[in-house]
Amino acid sequence: MKHLLSIESLSRSEIEEIITLAGGMKSSRGRHATHPLRHKCWAMMFSKSSTRTRISFEVGIRELGGDVLFLAADDIQLGRGEPIKDTARVMGRMLHGAVIRTFAQSDVEDFAAFSGVPTINALTDEEHPCQILADLFTIRELGRDLDRMKLLFIGDGDCNMARSWIWAAARWGFELRIAAPPKFQPPAELVSRSGGNILVTDDLMAAAEGADVLYTDVWVSMGREDEAAFRLAQLQGYQINDDLLRVAPDALVMHCLPAYRGKEITADVLEAHATTIFQQAENRLHAQKAILSRLTE
Ligand code: CP
Ligand code: NVA
Repeated sequence: MKHLLSIESLSRSEIEEIITLAGGMKSSRGRHATHPLRHKCWAMMFSKSSTRTRISFEVGIRELGGDVLFLAADDIQLGRGEPIKDTARVMGRMLHGAVIRTFAQSDVEDFAAFSGVPTINALTDEEHPCQILADLFTIRELGRDLDRMKLLFIGDGDCNMARSWIWAAARWGFELRIAAPPKFQPPAELVSRSGGNILVTDDLMAAAEGADVLYTDVWVSMGREDEAAFRLAQLQGYQINDDLLRVAPDALVMHCLPAYRGKEITADVLEAHATTIFQQAENRLHAQKAILSRLTE
């Protein structure tokens, strides 16, 4: 594995290897036997905001012995129109790896191809693979059986998180349900091409029956702000709240964060499940250290 560009491009055994290694990274934090990023300098090139991804990568790279540069895309020539393939060829000659948050999936793929250095997708409009790997690690850490789980994704069923869950379900083999209004469901072609055990419905309550994990994400993803009013109107009701939890009382409640209380999740439910949700956020660090170490072998 040279790059981490999507969940689609991973095999089940690669996913398994990363989430197992994440457990080792977590238990040995502060006393790692090896520092695979020693004498290496990685760049993080971000075109969108970030709290968790930025901090966990910056800390993780340092904890593995490396150095890190944070480059806001608008502060470098990329923001003035220099092509990604030229940026990649420059960075690839000076750096040992790159973590990229951007809009088009093709940009991380082009960066990987032209830079020649390990490249990690830190979120695009299509996928958020680092979040999914941390989430699978968290679900297993919390004692759920990934082979048997039924995960219900609620909200914008065509966003990067939903798409990455589609590929995770397909690669791992667990059951995924997506409850979303008709205008925010993933394309049927994508669902069928994935080959996963996936149900897409607008009936949220029915989809929650027997679910082991209730998972949600923002209704308005980064880059979709101009559609905010339409999205809020359409997605109204696709919320994790007490009524939904009555249907799936033992389910884990998960959120990739940031959370908008009163929109995709109520304030009460978020606080009642904060232990899980912030463990999920912390696990970004451990999972990404596993990814970094796997890419620098
Ligand atoms: N979940 C996640 O990726 O958070 P940030 O946008 O804060 O990095
Ligand atoms: N779907 C969200 C995920 C944020 C981590 C977005 O793209 O803004």
